[in-house]
Amino acid sequence: MSENALRHNEPLENMPAMIHLKDYKKHAFYIDTINLDVHLDMHKTIVTAVSTVGRNRGYEDLYLDGHSMDLISVYVNDVPLLISDYIICDKGLTIKKDILPDTDFKLKIITQINPADNTTLEGLYRSGTMYCTQCESQGFRKITYYIDRPDNMAVFTVRVVGENDKMPILLSNGTKTTSGVTKDGKPYAVWHDPHKKPSYLFALVAGDLECYRDNFVTMSGRDVVLEIYTEYGNLDKCVYAMDSLKRSMKWDEEKYGREYDLDIFMIVAVGDFNFGAMENKGLNIFNSKYILAQSDTATDTDYEHIEGVVAHEYFHNWTGNRITCRDWFQLCLKEGLTVFRDQSFSGDMRNKITKRIDDVIALRSAQFSEDSGGLAHPVRPEHYIEINNFYTATVYEKGAELCRMLYIMLGADDFRKGTDLYFERYDGMAVTVEDFISAMADASYRDLSQFLLWYKQSGTPHITADGFYNESKKQYLLTVSQKTNPDANQSQKLPLHIPVVTALLSPSGQPINSLHNGKTAHEHILELKYDKTVFVFDNVNEPPVPSVLRGFSAPVILHQNLSQDDMVTLMTHDTDLFNRYETAQKFIQNIILSLYNNNDFASEQSKIDVFIRSVQNCLNNDSYDGLFKSYYISLPSVGYLMQQMNQVVPEKLYQARLNVREYIAKSLEADFLTVYHNSLTDTPFDASPISAARRSLGNSALSYLLCANNAHHALAEKHYKNADNMTDMMGALSALSDKGGDIYQSLMQDFYTRFESDALVIDKWFALQARSQNADCLNDVKKLLTHKDFTYKNPNRVRSLIGVFAHGNLVHFHNSDSYAFIAQQILILDKLNPKTASRLATSFDQIHTLDTALVQNARDVLNGILSDKSTISNDVLEIITKILG
Ligand code: ARG
Ligand code: ZN
Repeated sequence: MSENALRHNEPLENMPAMIHLKDYKKHAFYIDTINLDVHLDMHKTIVTAVSTVGRNRGYEDLYLDGHSMDLISVYVNDVPLLISDYIICDKGLTIKKDILPDTDFKLKIITQINPADNTTLEGLYRSGTMYCTQCESQGFRKITYYIDRPDNMAVFTVRVVGENDKMPILLSNGTKTTSGVTKDGKPYAVWHDPHKKPSYLFALVAGDLECYRDNFVTMSGRDVVLEIYTEYGNLDKCVYAMDSLKRSMKWDEEKYGREYDLDIFMIVAVGDFNFGAMENKGLNIFNSKYILAQSDTATDTDYEHIEGVVAHEYFHNWTGNRITCRDWFQLCLKEGLTVFRDQSFSGDMRNKITKRIDDVIALRSAQFSEDSGGLAHPVRPEHYIEINNFYTATVYEKGAELCRMLYIMLGADDFRKGTDLYFERYDGMAVTVEDFISAMADASYRDLSQFLLWYKQSGTPHITADGFYNESKKQYLLTVSQKTNPDANQSQKLPLHIPVVTALLSPSGQPINSLHNGKTAHEHILELKYDKTVFVFDNVNEPPVPSVLRGFSAPVILHQNLSQDDMVTLMTHDTDLFNRYETAQKFIQNIILSLYNNNDFASEQSKIDVFIRSVQNCLNNDSYDGLFKSYYISLPSVGYLMQQMNQVVPEKLYQARLNVREYIAKSLEADFLTVYHNSLTDTPFDASPISAARRSLGNSALSYLLCANNAHHALAEKHYKNADNMTDMMGALSALSDKGGDIYQSLMQDFYTRFESDALVIDKWFALQARSQNADCLNDVKKLLTHKDFTYKNPNRVRSLIGVFAHGNLVHFHNSDSYAFIAQQILILDKLNPKTASRLATSFDQIHTLDTALVQNARDVLNGILSDKSTISNDVLEIITKILG
């Protein structure tokens, strides 16, 4: 590999072109209607696109995006073009200005594509026996030459012609206007979507599929047909997704006043899919993982994800489809807002506190880490090479946090006025983040100009909160300051506008009302706008314990110097349950980190005992939900702990954490046994949040028990054998998996035989092995690559084996053998599916936290991947170049 290639200030000559937000310019032309005629064939699908083209500007060439297909012919106003009338390059087609009419014209383009050989799963491809599409962001340009950008919105009419008579289901967006059989005996259907849309929302599905049907009556009384399509034999597994869909539709009407706008809403579950799901207008396409569920194949977490993703895609109908993005830099406009909406929905359906805990864990593990490494970018990035690399935790999860902060600062009523205004002003348009913020500001009469900085500035702010009690004035002063570290995006960071929700408690844990900003209340929303602000609370009669950043009111890292007593007060009595959990986590985190540094268990013992008492209190507190308890008693993950450290040796950190865990497990063995037994029930499975919470706690207790004592292996075996649901089976297997042993082996064999034919369950079987802490894990994973059920062509399978190992098994991933192995896997995958390959490459993004020897190792391996840039995709190239810095 060439060392030079990676020097910091390397001229960017051999790098692919960077696209910049500041260069945004309207296209010279627009297309506002398109008629597509698609004749499906495995290797030779013929696509005829007839569009109406108008001009945004005068005399210019017409450039259309397109690649990976054969151009058969082009006509302008029915006149066939000569080869000399246009130029084809590897990215698109340019029709020369001289031959274009002055007025609007008709453009007809015939292309030929090869879905069967399309392993990128972008554009039109085959999954099992069906045809399907994925066009976001830029897949439509693999179907026909087009103005493939979101600010070009058109009315689509699509005729799909099946390949043969064994393909009865032919779907596209909108509603079906006609169907029949062609002269040569092939079935066809014509679909019309009256809503103008960008090409990334186009979808087409064809196959022999089964349909689970229901209906929904909207708030204005319209009847909407709901359909979920899957391969045969899955109808029973669609019940929960359908129920989630109906609840989402109702919730969006009640909470946002948004009604569905077509007569039919369809979902198709496909086995081979690069992402979670896709919000194509009226025809959502889903990774089957987020649709299919039944108690013996899906865990409670699967159910939760199905509910969340179904809602997410449905909510996009307004936030994304009716109002879309002007350009891909604005991705957070639809994704951040839609994630915020799906999170609120799930909180309403389940438990707001545990949903918030769950979201914060995910935010910290994926987004805070992203923000701290080479892949850091603002929620609205300013440049990219490959837009697919920006479907990130920062755009999605941090983007959602920004909406949530607005919700907190504006309050529910003004936030709703803001979204109402947003829908009213921008319906049918392709807009920007500024447009969204202006609607929120105008509706609430608030100045949000500083808030906009959240979208432009990368990095996680560090907040410090320091309290001082003035006895004579009965006044409490809380000094809050902020600092964001410089990074490659901005060398100097400006102060942000941050809501820091705060309350005061008495030392014994009683809620205190205080006077702040003219208002007497227990809880106050402090708005931090400067580097440092002293917030004053009056009428405080005793030195209080501050509960700061309640409910995690902003995506920041909070530093506080609290005494052990204050922490215990918060852990036990905080009126905000999120902060009880949060303080307990910080408490145990400090212990693990000092154990890592000093390796002196005895000096930490008294603190651990305090934590153990608080765990015991938690377990005995009947007012807590089981899920809350299981979050409270779980320890921060190795990945999260790594973020708080420098020059980490992951193995050593894992060991420090394990020592604490074993000590807790042994100290509370009897308690965990009771909790475990109390969690068992004779009533048959139901997927309700209450039952799920009970199972969650039972499985947490079981895993502590196995940590305490090997004698409990038999209990785990019984747990597995008695289970009438996947959650408990997985609970038993994962509790056993780290230690391995005969019982584990035989249960894994049993599991495999039982579920051999169910791909989604076999994914779990692979993932269990990839996540194991067993010393031989890397070799097991390598061996599994040759298992008959392993294939590089199915993204779910790749993620469950290789992805889980690289992203989810940090202790085994961070060593030179694993680095070399994953690098080799990236190269293999890149040839087939660059989206999956570049996602895998992001597993190297935390190397900056590692011990220097490991860092060098990882860098060498990454440089190796870049040694021949001409053979790797832009997707992988961009990720690795950024990680190397
Ligand atoms: N819009 C889809 C969703 O969030 C995800 C599409 C992912 N596409 C991509 N190119 N990464 O629901
Ligand atoms: Zn989305």
